[in-house]
Amino acid sequence: MALHVLEHPLIQHKLTWLRDKSTGPKEFRNLVEEIATLMAYEATRGLPLEEVEVETPLQKTLGRAIVGKKLALIPILRAGLGMVEAIMRLVPHAKIGHIGLYRDHDTLQPVEYYFKVPDDLTERDILLLDPMLATGGSAAAAVNFLKARGARSKSIKLLCLLAAPEGIEAMRKNDPEVDIFTASVDDGLNEKGYIMPGLGDAGDRLFGTL
Ligand code: PRP
Ligand code: URA
Repeated sequence: MALHVLEHPLIQHKLTWLRDKSTGPKEFRNLVEEIATLMAYEATRGLPLEEVEVETPLQKTLGRAIVGKKLALIPILRAGLGMVEAIMRLVPHAKIGHIGLYRDHDTLQPVEYYFKVPDDLTERDILLLDPMLATGGSAAAAVNFLKARGARSKSIKLLCLLAAPEGIEAMRKNDPEVDIFTASVDDGLNEKGYIMPGLGDAGDRLFGTL
């Protein structure tokens, strides 16, 4: 499994203000969008290109365009919704799927409540979006749902703003072929399964439900 920790100064700067408890929902949403855009820029670096002819106002020339498999963006509800629109602006032709999962507060096990994804996942590269990789239960369950619908492990990339070592290990055990892109590997989980130092509850901070 490849783990990409994105050290770009813009990402790290924005992440610091995302962690700050005095950052309100509007600014929090903006920061999540900006970081998601920068992460998608890194995660799409390997997309294959082909030469295409284009006519400028002056002459014909060759340019390069993305070929091959198409993209699917799959946010894990709710918090993954905060990342999807920003990335869609970069890749407007991507198809969007949704996976509804919440983490049971007592057991920390993921509970599924919604699943709707494009039906041609076999042919697509998938960016699975969730700001938080804590125990890894939610992301691993999402990967398994996608694979059951035909997605190939190597085509799935998880984009998360923060990752706990426990979540990375759970993802590696579940399927070592899924790559992870994150802005930070934090210290670990507290007794309630929150990432430390973390940023708190991402869904609540995004949607103002604290
Ligand atoms: C959060 C987060 C992840 C999950 C991570 O969602 O957005 O989906 O927890 O935890 P895990 O790695 O231990 O599974 P939550 O269950 O709070 O739902 P929400 O996004 O609807 O608030
Ligand atoms: N989900 C969150 O939103 N935050 C955490 O720290 C862990 C899981």
